[in-house]
Amino acid sequence: ADIEQQASTGSLPGWDDVDALVSATYDRLRDDRDGTVADYIPKLAAAEPDQFGIAVADVAGGTHDVGDAWAPFTIQSISKAFVYALVAEVLGHEVVGERIGVNNTGLPFDSVVAIELNDGHPMNPMVNAGAIATTALLPGASPDEKWSRLVAALSAFAGHRLSIDEQVYASESASNDRNRALGQLLRSYGRLDADPAETVDLYTRQCALLVSAHDLAVMGATLADGGVNPVSGEQVVSPEVCRDTLAVLAASGLYEHSGEWLFEIGVPGKSGVSGGIVAIAPGKGAIGAFSPRLDEAGNSVRGQRAAAQLSRALGLNVF
Ligand code: DON
Repeated sequence: ADIEQQASTGSLPGWDDVDALVSATYDRLRDDRDGTVADYIPKLAAAEPDQFGIAVADVAGGTHDVGDAWAPFTIQSISKAFVYALVAEVLGHEVVGERIGVNNTGLPFDSVVAIELNDGHPMNPMVNAGAIATTALLPGASPDEKWSRLVAALSAFAGHRLSIDEQVYASESASNDRNRALGQLLRSYGRLDADPAETVDLYTRQCALLVSAHDLAVMGATLADGGVNPVSGEQVVSPEVCRDTLAVLAASGLYEHSGEWLFEIGVPGKSGVSGGIVAIAPGKGAIGAFSPRLDEAGNSVRGQRAAAQLSRALGLNVF
């Protein structure tokens, strides 16, 4: 059956039909070549641009995968959502609300101007400045301890031990002058209590963790499920932290395109420059997608289209 037609007539399929829907969405978008692969991190420019995978995970633990759903890629900015959840779990709603903020900058993810316009405030945890400020708040006495906590938490979201892509980490470390500048600038405003170089290094490492579209679906479904990983059964964070994290994603998950995303797709989401994207339907589940070609804001073109079609067909829009 035609997805758009089902949606427009209101005869939404139940979750039983998800396998067929995921496959139909994949087939429709299989030849979509819009967008360009990120090249500001040299190693990312070498990505195979035609890769395409879609996965759906529901809060009952069901998963549905098609195409390159198991292909590994670096999580990049999608890590920001899950590191934020970890920090919010440790420090609480008030502290992250005040220190990191929740409002959209309306500017690109690596904007320096956004910091200057806001008296040094990073504004939200999804832009690079806010993510660096969030990583600075990780619990742990040393960078190694912070890294251990971070990897343990993101691995618990995914339900298996995540590893790092050393080549992407090295490539980005050798070219991330801008993020180091953001770290220094935050520090100059008294907004970063940790060492900026160490913090940016941790942030760069978190971005180089390897995931698949399947992992993103499970990680997103954990936020949809009040913090319980629906596949492993582990309580990773509290329901309150999920609520806060999803609110932040709704406001800023797709950077300056967050409004359009919410308008078209109607659920919190997060993207990363290697082409991953996750769309999270509270109480229901999540869509994970991977396709390296991006729009000008740095969001996967085909991933957004897959999320839009599936969100509509599955009736996920929360509004
Ligand atoms: O810090 C950076 O620029 C990258 N490690 C991550 C940026 C990113 O994923 C933006 N996303 N769409």
